[in-house]
Amino acid sequence: MSDATPTGFDPSWLEARHRFDASARDPALRAIAIARLPQDRPARILDLGAGLGASVRHMAPHIPGPQRWRLIDADPASLQRAIPRLSAWALRRGWSCRPTPGGLLIDRPDGALHVEAICGDLHDLAGLTDLGDADLVTANALFDLFSRADLDRLVAALAARRLPTLATINYTGAHLTPDDPDDALIFSHYHAHMRRPRPPSPPAMGTTCAAQLLESFSRAGFRVEQGPSPWRVPPEAKNLLTHLLNFIQGAVPATLHDPDERARFDRWLARRRLHLQRGHLAAHLDHVDLLALPPDR
Ligand SMILES: C[S@@+](CC[C@H](N)C(=O)[O-])C[C@H]1O[C@@H](n2cnc3c(N)ncnc32)[C@H](O)[C@@H]1O
Repeated sequence: MSDATPTGFDPSWLEARHRFDASARDPALRAIAIARLPQDRPARILDLGAGLGASVRHMAPHIPGPQRWRLIDADPASLQRAIPRLSAWALRRGWSCRPTPGGLLIDRPDGALHVEAICGDLHDLAGLTDLGDADLVTANALFDLFSRADLDRLVAALAARRLPTLATINYTGAHLTPDDPDDALIFSHYHAHMRRPRPPSPPAMGTTCAAQLLESFSRAGFRVEQGPSPWRVPPEAKNLLTHLLNFIQGAVPATLHDPDERARFDRWLARRRLHLQRGHLAAHLDHVDLLALPPDR
């Protein structure tokens, strides 16, 4: 599940979700993607919608040998935060690192890890000249924000360059416990808000993103493998649950036009906040991971 503030993504949300994403990502798809990376030179990985560099932190320790990561994000503030966070992450592992123009060089016993941060809008592919020289493209928690038209344009560019793509944590829906009779109504409004148009783009794919990724990559000739990547959020994860309720509170009222519906939403939210406060609220969020492989020549 993704949600943006007007200036980009709240870094505390990106950090809170990292642990849940990391344990939810499908290890088999990750292993297939990594096994296809070249062994005779540094692997080149392009991370789309990189945020604070979560995919580097998750994937790099699983990849043997030297690596070159290019992080692309439209939000310059996230990329500015990503480099010091990656540096702190490396130092915690006992790896030395130094800044490079536009990025970071991490010295690992297993092989150097170069990270370069590039600010760019993925809807403006003409500006992304570096797409072509990657061995693998990754994108975590990105595509619910995309429109189908923007996805198809990106997939066409990936197909033209025959780039394998690992698209993880594609949100498909949520379930809260304990059950509440108004959950279905509130989540239908919340998901409608996720699919709202984000001008100049048409409506975003929201919860349909995994199905649309499968269709778009398959039509472009990719072989697509899929696996579930659910989050199970226990009552103790109050920080993450608070973010979820805050997102719903920030989104749903914009979709309600009837005062009775608004009052019903307010009552639902009050019940859910009470469950949270008393340590009774838990969440199950469904996601799908996809690995799209270009056809063999
Ligand atoms: C939910 S966050 C996920 C960030 C990161 N992948 C992670 O797992 O923590 C989605 C990210 O995609 C970026 N993003 C959304 N639309 C984009 C676009 N059109 N071009 C580039 N970045 C985009 C946002 O700025 C944000 O950092």
